[in-house]
Amino acid sequence: MSPIIRGQNVVKKYGDFTAVNNVSFDIESGSLFGFLGPNGAGKTTIMKMIYCFVTVTSGRLTVDGKDVMQNPRGVKEILGVVPQEDNLDPDLTTYENLLTYARYYGIPKRIVARRAEELLDFVSLDKKDDSPVEELSGGMKRRLTLARGLINEPRILILDEPTTGLDPQARHLVWQKMRELKRRGITILLTTHYMEEAAYLCDELVLIDHGEFIARGNPDDLIKELPGESVVELHDVRNEDKAKIESRLNDYENECFGDTIYVYADSSRKVMDNLNGFTFARVIERKTNLEDLFLRLTGRSLRD
Ligand SMILES: Nc1ncnc2c1ncn2[C@@H]1O[C@H](COP(=O)(O)OP(=O)(O)OP(=O)(O)O)[C@@H](O)[C@H]1O
Ligand SMILES: [Mg+2]
Repeated sequence: MSPIIRGQNVVKKYGDFTAVNNVSFDIESGSLFGFLGPNGAGKTTIMKMIYCFVTVTSGRLTVDGKDVMQNPRGVKEILGVVPQEDNLDPDLTTYENLLTYARYYGIPKRIVARRAEELLDFVSLDKKDDSPVEELSGGMKRRLTLARGLINEPRILILDEPTTGLDPQARHLVWQKMRELKRRGITILLTTHYMEEAAYLCDELVLIDHGEFIARGNPDDLIKELPGESVVELHDVRNEDKAKIESRLNDYENECFGDTIYVYADSSRKVMDNLNGFTFARVIERKTNLEDLFLRLTGRSLRD
């Protein structure tokens, strides 16, 4: 296997502020690679450097062997992009949006017409081809942006939060489309705040915080690094009981947030044996997941 995207000591500064701080990564051709992290972590900035929308301050970033600073044209040719912010033309119809975008790539009209039809079909917007974009719902616009990102038949697809704001049906549709594109050999870069989505789709991911990578690997392997296979959630814990409860849980890694105590353990029965005399409104035992890891490594406080 060989990396199709390679970052070496990549730094991005906006003025004095360092948004991306010396990160290195290899993305294998044909893989689905995730960038996770809290708001403001630097995910979009990394994407934008890859698709040559912002400059790289220092370090080296190559896409299919082409340096993004020296050969942005060559890089853009093989990329499809779904940016985080919708930038469709609201005055045009769905179909016209695809045609207009295709002009940047110099694709012959006859080919574009066929591709546009196929792509609207692909994202289930074929019945909306004549609708002005401003009449589309948020989820439809997202799907149109995905179709637009595919108009130049890219080898690499960059998806910056493609499913944010989508209903469950649309989200599952987009997941299936991503898997289908991957089967066709397209390399996909994904950012998402939905941990179950990342766990379901990504071959490999990095977790970013304050512009630095704080974890990387396959989602299943990363989850195994947590201190237990299950989490027991104790809900509606009264403030006055917290210290007493925690003192009985010394054998287990645990964390209190608000009125809930999270206990890493392999069985709720053993945990509850330690808590005789306490009653809880609700006790949930579930498998550990990527969200547990995310919160454990980046904390529970808001970033914005
Ligand atoms: N053009 C800019 N000028 C100055 N600072 C910027 C600019 N763009 C982004 N930043 C800052 O860089 C940091 C990283 O932003 P970025 O958009 O990459 O975050 P993100 O991980 O994509 O966050 P989110 O999950 O909210 O989309 C933030 O602190 C942001 O305020
Ligand atoms: Mg972003």
